[in-house]
Amino acid sequence: MSRTVVVTGATSGIGRAAAREFAGRGDRLVLAARSRTTLAEVRGECEKIGAEVLAVPTDVTADGALEALTDAAVTRFGGVDVWVHTAAVMAYGRFEETPERVFEQVVRTDLLAAAGAARVALRHFRATGGGTLILTGSVLGHITAPFMSGYVASKWGLQGLARALQQEARETPGVNVCIVTPGSVDTPVYQQAANYLGRIGRPPLPITSPERVARAIVDCADRPRREVSVGRVNLVMRFGFTLLPGVYDVLVVPLMRIAGLTNRPVAPHEGTVFTPNPAGESVRGGWLPDLAQLARGVGELPASIGGAVRRRLR
Ligand SMILES: NC(=O)c1ccc[n+]([C@@H]2O[C@H](COP(=O)([O-])OP(=O)(O)OC[C@H]3O[C@@H](n4cnc5c(N)ncnc54)[C@H](OP(=O)(O)O)[C@@H]3O)[C@@H](O)[C@H]2O)c1
Repeated sequence: MSRTVVVTGATSGIGRAAAREFAGRGDRLVLAARSRTTLAEVRGECEKIGAEVLAVPTDVTADGALEALTDAAVTRFGGVDVWVHTAAVMAYGRFEETPERVFEQVVRTDLLAAAGAARVALRHFRATGGGTLILTGSVLGHITAPFMSGYVASKWGLQGLARALQQEARETPGVNVCIVTPGSVDTPVYQQAANYLGRIGRPPLPITSPERVARAIVDCADRPRREVSVGRVNLVMRFGFTLLPGVYDVLVVPLMRIAGLTNRPVAPHEGTVFTPNPAGESVRGGWLPDLAQLARGVGELPASIGGAVRRRLR
């Protein structure tokens, strides 16, 4: 049976991949993010797959925005069955060198707006007899890394919030709270991040595709579970962080500099923390080869070689 699914952060990365995945399942979609132009693009992509779509330009940190989003979903589709919250921003920098307003906006977006989404979703689910809330955490909600303190603090807060909400949901049958915790994912979040570190960030290896995380999210909507970890070394990192904290802390700073940052220099900037950058939004961040696109390219190779040969012979 098709469901009505709200996806926040639907214009890029994991949220955009999840929107397409739900569209492929025949679900109705309510898509939210700040960029109107990209939102219209994603609506087109999902409609092409066959989904009914409502796009609602939304800044999840704005007063009343999440209530308005719920109202729009109810008016158009009569209710919400699944709420997927992926909207987030990131900032690189030593804590004391990151402007206070940037740190606070990261926490406002990644933690407080996720709490706001949980509040409207859970109130709606209690009133209508059930539904599933899926939050997007991170392996960085279980371990820590330097130079992204606002993001790490938010993900630890979100992990605690999800656990508390899961405990409360035990008293409301039909209401499910899930958290999906990816490791490194090939999305544009690294290039879109604010930066006060002088070098552009990158996802440390191994890198997962956003489509894989999207499938885990849809799977959670089908069969709700408390937490789904996506990433081959998440457990190893958690093990090292918990059982060998001294060794972990010695290694994590040089490892972050080697594996978590590129050599590309960058001047200090606010990235997408306060305003969207539609030009930088896509499903993939370009950190992994896109095998589907590669296969299409290989498939088209004989025709393009044939064309080039014909042109040459003319
Ligand atoms: N990529 C990774 O390696 C990774 C790893 C672990 C966890 N995660 C988590 O996965 C989730 C998705 O991340 P991603 O990598 O897919 O990031 P992304 O590609 O940068 O996408 C972030 C999305 O959030 C939206 N957004 C940002 N601020 C917003 C606001 N104030 N109001 C509404 N929408 C807002 C953006 O759209 P607009 O700018 O148009 O608003 C965009 O659609 C996040 O929770 C992230 O923490 C990512």
